[in-house]
Amino acid sequence: MSDKKPLITMRGITKHFGGVKALEGVDLDAYAGEVLAIVGDNGAGKSTLIKVLTGVHQQTTGEITLDGETLVMNDHSEAIEKGIDAVYQTLALADYLDPAANMFLGTELTKSFMGFKYLDNEKMKSEAERVLKERLGVVLRDIDAPTDSLSGGQRQAIAIARVVYHENLRVLVMDEPTAALGPQETARTLKLIEVLREQGLAVILISHSLDDVFAISDRVHVMRRGKCVGVVKTSESTTQEVLGLIVGASNDAAA
Ligand SMILES: Nc1ncnc2c1ncn2[C@@H]1O[C@H](COP(=O)(O)OP(=O)(O)OP(=O)(O)O)[C@@H](O)[C@H]1O
Ligand SMILES: [Mg+2]
Repeated sequence: MSDKKPLITMRGITKHFGGVKALEGVDLDAYAGEVLAIVGDNGAGKSTLIKVLTGVHQQTTGEITLDGETLVMNDHSEAIEKGIDAVYQTLALADYLDPAANMFLGTELTKSFMGFKYLDNEKMKSEAERVLKERLGVVLRDIDAPTDSLSGGQRQAIAIARVVYHENLRVLVMDEPTAALGPQETARTLKLIEVLREQGLAVILISHSLDDVFAISDRVHVMRRGKCVGVVKTSESTTQEVLGLIVGASNDAAA
């Protein structure tokens, strides 16, 4: 990775919520075609950091660049315009709608007829099928089935398809995508992440599962109490080393 320039840089990011210092001077690099894991204990600042990256929160201080250009994002839609988006929990899917309706929820495709606008259900269905198959290698048995009849892994695929539908997507953030999934569905979701990495996306994965992190990531960014306390190459590290960084065992012993 060292011969490539990072796609994303975050430098000296702080975020204060009133008196709460959620982030204090965090640096992060993310590369195209890489899975960067972010790990850390509850409250370490992981979600806050990626909410700053995805324009949901604005940093108190610090700078973000994309391809070397400074990024200023006033809200999440501006991040999406720049090609940075996040997969929300599958819980955000509406159970009673079919997969295509879920994929286009809030961004429905329409067609005009005699001066009136109609939902283009056929197009949404065919686009949903196409994106699931072409980008994720997923074929649903019944594209008309309500979403609550699908497995957790299939729901996850729809949540991911919703985000990768935007052709200009370059940075994909996933905040604990396997938290609610069983072992088989977790394995399938990790496969989807691999596919997206191969397509050249920078994937940022927040996870509490070090098994998942070591199975899929290229580098691990460890957060503790609002700071980055280490970045390791997954292939050159161990769960013990990362756990030590997460809990700060060596730091606390020295303090
Ligand atoms: N909107 C907010 N208002 C006030 N404090 C917040 C807000 N969001 C986060 N915090 C605080 O910032 C700190 C970091 O929270 P964050 O959600 O980023 O942690 P996390 O690493 O994602 O934890 P978890 O693993 O539990 O998801 C916590 O102390 C949290 O209470
Ligand atoms: Mg979180």
